[in-house]
Amino acid sequence: MSIPSVFVATAIEAVLRAGEIQLSYFGRGVRVKKKGVIDLVTEADLAVEEMFRDLINSRFPSHLVLAEEQYQGDVIKDKPEFRWIFDPIDGTTNFAHDLPIFCSSLALEAAGRLEVAAVYDPTRRELFTAERGGGAFLNGIPLKISTAEQLVDSVLSTGFPYDVHDTIDDVVGLFAKFTGQVRAVRRLGSAALDLCYVAAGRLDGFWEQRLQAWDIAAGALLVEEAGGRISGLSGGKFNVHAGEVLASNGVIHDAMVAVIKDHAKALD
Ligand code: IPD
Ligand code: CA
Ligand code: CA
Repeated sequence: MSIPSVFVATAIEAVLRAGEIQLSYFGRGVRVKKKGVIDLVTEADLAVEEMFRDLINSRFPSHLVLAEEQYQGDVIKDKPEFRWIFDPIDGTTNFAHDLPIFCSSLALEAAGRLEVAAVYDPTRRELFTAERGGGAFLNGIPLKISTAEQLVDSVLSTGFPYDVHDTIDDVVGLFAKFTGQVRAVRRLGSAALDLCYVAAGRLDGFWEQRLQAWDIAAGALLVEEAGGRISGLSGGKFNVHAGEVLASNGVIHDAMVAVIKDHAKALD
């Protein structure tokens, strides 16, 4: 599908505006509330999402918005013509603790397919963009996936879902399994940036489970367009609404799947 350039321009404008709002709150004692025991929301998350919803509603009133903070559980059922998938701050725990590892993440899904991605990290001024079939870019420069050929030469990243207190054996067990086989595993606190870093060749692979579409939609398209591979955790077809992702440079993908399957067997 050919995507009108105004949609791409709007995606970039939205994440840049999100970055300005984030920086206006960052490091200034932002107000924080708990959505769950360890799941936070700040006044900045809410302000960014409000800006975004207003922008899309005013420019493209017929488009759906799937965004984290006002999510009502009713917009993922079908495949609408256009749906914007937005995380106002990915890395809210970092943000609330003044750790400068966060971004906003936006993808446009058209008839069920991810077509446009824009992720902006305002503290490093890094804008990651992709259009299906058009490649992936960092500040306008084409991205290339890493060339690691085996796990022992790979740096991976992962994240822990907000139910980690109740799923330690599973989540940390897999972390331990990978740690025993690779050069290093990182845990940055922003799934969207993890995926951008796979696309940029800074990381060789990333896995996480129990995510939401807004955490991974943009990053998944970026990885694909940079020449990487994206799948479910067991190597099956990637579904942005299924909540799990395995991303890699492609070369180490099957080896990562084998570690995950091994771990799942051990848990049974
Ligand atoms: C979280 C981050 C984190 C991941 C969590 C996500 P949020 O998103 O992406 O890295 O481990 O699973 O929920 O809450 O900061 O938008
Ligand atoms: Ca997120
Ligand atoms: Ca968020």
